Amino acid sequence: MKLTCATTRPKHSYDIEICRSLALNPTFLPFIKTFKRRVVIVTDTTVATLYGERLRQLLESSGLSEILLCSFPEGERFKTRATKENIEDTMLSCGYGRDSLLIAIGGGIVTDIGGYVAATYCRGIPYILIPTTLLAMVDASIGGKTGVNTSLGKNLVGCIYQPTGVYVDVSCLSTLPDKNIREGIVEMMKHGLIADVSYIEFLEKKAKAMQALDLPTLEDAIACSCRIKMEFVEQDEEERGKRSLLNFGHTIGHALETVTDYALSHGEAVALGILAEAKMAVDLQLLSPQSLDRIMSLFSLYAISTRLPQKISENTMWDAMTLDKKAVQKTPRFVLLNGIGNPLLPTQVEREYVKKALDWLQQ
Ligand SMILES: NC(=O)c1ccc[n+]([C@@H]2O[C@H](COP(=O)([O-])OP(=O)(O)OC[C@H]3O[C@@H](n4cnc5c(N)ncnc54)[C@H](O)[C@@H]3O)[C@@H](O)[C@H]2O)c1
Ligand SMILES: [Zn+2]
Repeated sequence: MKLTCATTRPKHSYDIEICRSLALNPTFLPFIKTFKRRVVIVTDTTVATLYGERLRQLLESSGLSEILLCSFPEGERFKTRATKENIEDTMLSCGYGRDSLLIAIGGGIVTDIGGYVAATYCRGIPYILIPTTLLAMVDASIGGKTGVNTSLGKNLVGCIYQPTGVYVDVSCLSTLPDKNIREGIVEMMKHGLIADVSYIEFLEKKAKAMQALDLPTLEDAIACSCRIKMEFVEQDEEERGKRSLLNFGHTIGHALETVTDYALSHGEAVALGILAEAKMAVDLQLLSPQSLDRIMSLFSLYAISTRLPQKISENTMWDAMTLDKKAVQKTPRFVLLNGIGNPLLPTQVEREYVKKALDWLQQ
């Protein structure tokens, strides 16, 4: 299945192919060869063993000879400027220049760092994404947001730089732990909550098939999420308005990741962020309590945790949120739901509502 992410700038448009085997995909190798470039594969250590070496062999067997595999340790703590620098230094020391093509294969951390390396290496080289987590397939690999964390917060340094192509091989999900499947489903729920109530109905009805990794069901859901994300990106590539709605759950989510020093993963933190921001909308009388109950029931269908596992002070959270990229003059802003499928652009919220929602998460 091929989808096209067509931004308003034609040079920034690219195809997203969803297939069941990269090796058997008829367009993948010919596409890589059209670049006539040396290839650097960027990945993390786990994905290097599972899929990176295999990708290198596939490229070699097709006649490509100059292939460099760069891997870094997995986890948010390595999504840093230092890791980016290491990859760049390795490429430079191997003589890789502007005639390079970068392929990032892995989860969202790999796709974010790989894209950022590509964006600045020799002032920019093309890159292809092969997302291997559900979260990266439906979210991180679309839209060109790249970047790294700093000690002060998530994704604070980076840029928007679109890939040249995205290849989703759903067979990679067979090795993905259940925990990571749930994290991807959280972003899929986010897509439904901000854009399409019928997609929420789909996720409610198909909970069993989704969790059993039934391929036709998963492919339908992945395509649906990709279409929703693409629509937001296509209309507002630089996030001046509509695209910011994709940050629903993320003001609180990113702060939770930072203050727990990434003990909570991105998907886990965003799940709690979605609930807290939905609770704020209920208290502000935008969202009905029944809609919040519906979201809670959907979470329980997928065994997604709805409670904060540790006590975190509201002050600590507030400080972290003032560094959020959506904050204006150090005041955090939140995407609130004015009903399921009807989000409002980021807005400031009285601090007492934020405190109340955080307390509720910790009950
Ligand atoms: N750029 C964007 O638009 C965007 C959107 C959403 C999230 N993100 C970013 O994505 C990151 C989270 O991504 P993630 O959840 O994919 O995390 P991740 O990249 O850490 O991957 C999760 C874990 O799964 C392992 N893994 C990956 N593929 C596997 C497979 N097929 N089988 C077995 N193990 C596998 C990885 O080694 C890692 O340990 C965050 O840093 C977040 O900020 C970016
Ligand atoms: Zn996210």
